[in-house]
Amino acid sequence: MATPRQKLNTKEHKSKQKLTEAQIAVHWKEEGVFYPPKKFIEQANLTDPKVMERFSEKNFPKCFEEYAEMLSWYQRWKTVLDTSDPPFWKWFVGGKLNVCHNCVDRQLAKYKNKAALICVPEPEDEAPVAITYQELYSRVNELAALLRDFAGLKTGDRVTIHMPMIAELPITMLACARLGVVHSVVFGGFSGEACGLRAADSGSRVLVYADSYYRSGKLADHKAAADLAIEAAKREGQTIDKVLVWQRHPGKYGSASPMVKGRDYFINEVLKDFRGKRVEPVPMDAEAPLFLMYTSGTTGKPKGCQHRTGGYLAYVTGTSKYIQDIHPEDVYWCMADIGWITGHSYIVYGPLALAATSIIYEGIPIYPDAGRPWRIAERLNVNIFHTSPTAIRMLRKAGPDEPKKYNCHFKHMTTVGEPIEPEVWKWYYNAVGKGEAVIVDTWWQTENGGFLCSTKPAIDAMKPGSAGPGVPGIYPIIYDENKQEMPAGSQKAGNICIRNPWPGIFQTIWGDRDRFVRTYYQKYCKSPKSKDWRDWPYFAGDGALLAKDGYFRILGRVDDVINVAGHRLGTKELESACLTIPEVAEAAVVPVVDEIKGRVPEIYISLKPGVTTSAKEMTEKVTHTIETMIGKIARPKTVQIVPDMPKTRSGKIMRRVLAAISNRMDTGDITTLANSDIVEQIRELVQGRAVLPLQEGPEDIKRFGQEP
Ligand code: WTA
Repeated sequence: MATPRQKLNTKEHKSKQKLTEAQIAVHWKEEGVFYPPKKFIEQANLTDPKVMERFSEKNFPKCFEEYAEMLSWYQRWKTVLDTSDPPFWKWFVGGKLNVCHNCVDRQLAKYKNKAALICVPEPEDEAPVAITYQELYSRVNELAALLRDFAGLKTGDRVTIHMPMIAELPITMLACARLGVVHSVVFGGFSGEACGLRAADSGSRVLVYADSYYRSGKLADHKAAADLAIEAAKREGQTIDKVLVWQRHPGKYGSASPMVKGRDYFINEVLKDFRGKRVEPVPMDAEAPLFLMYTSGTTGKPKGCQHRTGGYLAYVTGTSKYIQDIHPEDVYWCMADIGWITGHSYIVYGPLALAATSIIYEGIPIYPDAGRPWRIAERLNVNIFHTSPTAIRMLRKAGPDEPKKYNCHFKHMTTVGEPIEPEVWKWYYNAVGKGEAVIVDTWWQTENGGFLCSTKPAIDAMKPGSAGPGVPGIYPIIYDENKQEMPAGSQKAGNICIRNPWPGIFQTIWGDRDRFVRTYYQKYCKSPKSKDWRDWPYFAGDGALLAKDGYFRILGRVDDVINVAGHRLGTKELESACLTIPEVAEAAVVPVVDEIKGRVPEIYISLKPGVTTSAKEMTEKVTHTIETMIGKIARPKTVQIVPDMPKTRSGKIMRRVLAAISNRMDTGDITTLANSDIVEQIRELVQGRAVLPLQEGPEDIKRFGQEP
């Protein structure tokens, strides 16, 4: 495909009519609604319209007992919510349970011969492997015995797990949970360096690795990362004394990195000594930490979000049942990576606690072609499908007509992780769901444990591009910068906050209580001495809009908002507009410093395969679309047509890298990108072949697209 180096410098434009803030915010046109299919409603877990009454503020916090009661407890809690040390809320205090027992042991009575996990290798000629609950029980027990008696891990210790999407990953997590060992899973696509820093922060002395895995048709060497991780941890003062390595092909080492004697061990070899071993699950306090999940940022230290045992499991189980509509009979496939929070909550813990069959796919969605996900769904008879807008856009770009070639039928589909453009939503609904599936657009964060906003699938209408209302028991609110509530229908964007605590909220940032309070509660705290939860709204760091009908539309991180001539523009609004252009596959908008307007948007687009439209024509089309759909104020300074977007391994477009290029600033660390080569290509396209001196750049652009 041609990659023209065309720029269109628009003339300074003076708007005849000055737009007000309110007018700016409303550019995203309201979408019509879609209703859940009758067939879905007939079988749904949650159909009682009184659910919101049950979970209303007058029943708070007791309403959440409904979720806790879905679990098996060794000892029932005495206090539902303890607010004595705000904002460090405690849930189900006095209760004792074990997460592994809830996800594995207790399913044996009814479901021991049912598949708990079906693991789909990336190579298509390698058959999927089903692991029954009974087999999962045996494997988890043997591994727990190994972790305890061979690795010397005990309740409360931390262990860092750096693994790809293979069965041994959830098995390792569950074995940790059985012992009360706190796991910290680092996304497999992160570098060894990134893993080591996280391992050091958590104080792990044991790493669990896989030697290799398949990615885009190649066996990737993964164990080599462990050596780098150990070095990085050492620099931070943390010694790693054991590396436990799973072999992708047992008996055959798939890495070039030498095994270090007395430090590195093949788990499958050591396991021989633990065959048939059983380990009693350790009854854990509801408030004991279950896991850490680091959220990365290029500035500052990554934050280790510490999740609790009882509240977390109760929350993910309840939301898996009501929002994901999981029944034990369902074949459920969440295409996220377990190394992210979505995978923890909605591949492993929630679905297994409900005795579902959960699918784990090793590879990338478009390997060997864009029909792969639909072939997997057809073969395994998947009826619940869960993925991200990026994946949907990717599949739409690579194979818009692929889904109809396969006999796959979903009752329920999820989108999560980014705002979804209505255009993309509709393709998901029509092409993937074939008009038969309900869609939930779930908004939440690593810090939250589970969903915050979503429609209730059998009860609420769906509105493309809007996540929906707060889920049961979540009371979101939009505040402006002056701590004033912005009412429904105000047509202005503000900061979305959650007024109340909920069981899935994380406990703290590992080792940094101050940062926890500062980042999430300081901004809107009404009274720092108060022990009333009503004084402690949770600040999510996202911009949002609340429509009259009570549906929240998430605009993205507050640091993704571009302030153009003093007016706020959600970058997603612009991108959504671009995606209505038939030739456009993907779009990303970044702020560029402008002498007159402060900031103006620069638009990066990639085109669908086979598009022959000239760069000049595309630039005009984009500018025209933005002007007509949003307004001249949002007119892009330039339109850059690029062959691909820089992306993280999880598929998110790295707008910060584009913003840096657009502003001739340092692109920072790009080693975690899936396609770091593209960065130099785009830089040349935008800046020209000569390497120009870097500029310092203003704070807001430095922060743009990064986590707070
Ligand atoms: C964004 C992922 C719009 C949001 C579960 C949030 C969304 C960040 C949605 C958290 C959604 C997540 N619509 N935006 N449905 N879901 N986001 O921690 O900006 O990886 O703050 O958790 O993703 O990303 P995280």
